[in-house]
Amino acid sequence: MEINNILTGDSLTILKTLKDESIDLILTSPPYFQQRDYGNGHLGIGGENSEEKYLENVLAVFFECVRVAKPTGCIVFNLGDKYINGGLSLLPYKFAIKALESSQLFLINQITWAKLNPTPRQDKRKLIQATEPFFIFAKSKDYYFDLSNYLKHLDDLNKANKGKPSEKLGKQYFDLIEKSDLNEAQKENARKSLQEAILAVHKGEIDSFRMKIKGLHKEAYGGMEGGRNNQIRNHGFTIIKILGNKLKKDIIESPVEITKDNAHPAVYPLYIVQELIKLLSKENDIILDPFCGSGTTCLAAKNLNRHYLGIEIKPEYVELANQRLKQVDFMQELFL
Ligand SMILES: C[S@@+](CC[C@H](N)C(=O)[O-])C[C@H]1O[C@@H](n2cnc3c(N)ncnc32)[C@H](O)[C@@H]1O
Repeated sequence: MEINNILTGDSLTILKTLKDESIDLILTSPPYFQQRDYGNGHLGIGGENSEEKYLENVLAVFFECVRVAKPTGCIVFNLGDKYINGGLSLLPYKFAIKALESSQLFLINQITWAKLNPTPRQDKRKLIQATEPFFIFAKSKDYYFDLSNYLKHLDDLNKANKGKPSEKLGKQYFDLIEKSDLNEAQKENARKSLQEAILAVHKGEIDSFRMKIKGLHKEAYGGMEGGRNNQIRNHGFTIIKILGNKLKKDIIESPVEITKDNAHPAVYPLYIVQELIKLLSKENDIILDPFCGSGTTCLAAKNLNRHYLGIEIKPEYVELANQRLKQVDFMQELFL
């Protein structure tokens, strides 16, 4: 297998020629069901007459991807839904359920792509469809996962935007602890936890916090039984940590992208693909996209010093992908 290459042909046929457990990460977006005309005629996936046949074809490729993935590898599939007879078909979820039913895989996340510029609808009795799932399947519990590399620019931005916390931060609570009816042991505990929370803000581990003390603050959930109220009742206080943007959530925002002259009708966002590659692989790993279209996955892999392998049935798209990859080389040469 020659890496850093885009192979022209049918993905299932080509995947069958790849060795077991030879790929670090597979990331792809198969053609959506009866959604677009890629001009592939009967050769392409997506033009089937029934959902069942479509799912069968996509799953056949998916299971080949599972076979070629290393035990530490993940298989990421992005699929879009479709209205059939006025109702959503839930095809992406039917795919995911079938994929799990017939394998030992773990679905570690379903990341929702929230589109910042979704296509407006003619039908005024439905909301605009602005999300699509990226399913992340892991081959084993040993999957590679580098959370610190995911959305790192947001961490850096948070740090840069955040001034030094005030020296007075949280100090008012020490007075409140003293004034409270807590017993001496509870007060000691409360002071210790407060000190730890202040330190966590200074270290940047949390954005801020609030403290609730028995008798001074209303119980958290209006008298309902629950974790926080129990903490207040049992220990005399609770500390609510505010994490701000530090939480890495299973949702990612990005506009829908288009290639120059709209040369490919269904390009997925380079930004999301790059973030997933940073999360799920390391430098020099091999990334495979069996429906590589305009080559977004290959481009993202190249930008991040990973190796790539693409498969695409339509020769014009292979050419387009190669052109996009060459532009990266050209830009790199300019800056050498
Ligand atoms: C949704 S597009 C992928 C777009 C790609 N993610 C990008 O950013 O450009 C799906 C691609 O799969 C290709 N395709 C359809 N059937 C195929 C098959 N059997 N083997 C290989 N590629 C196929 C289509 O030509 C199309 O370019």
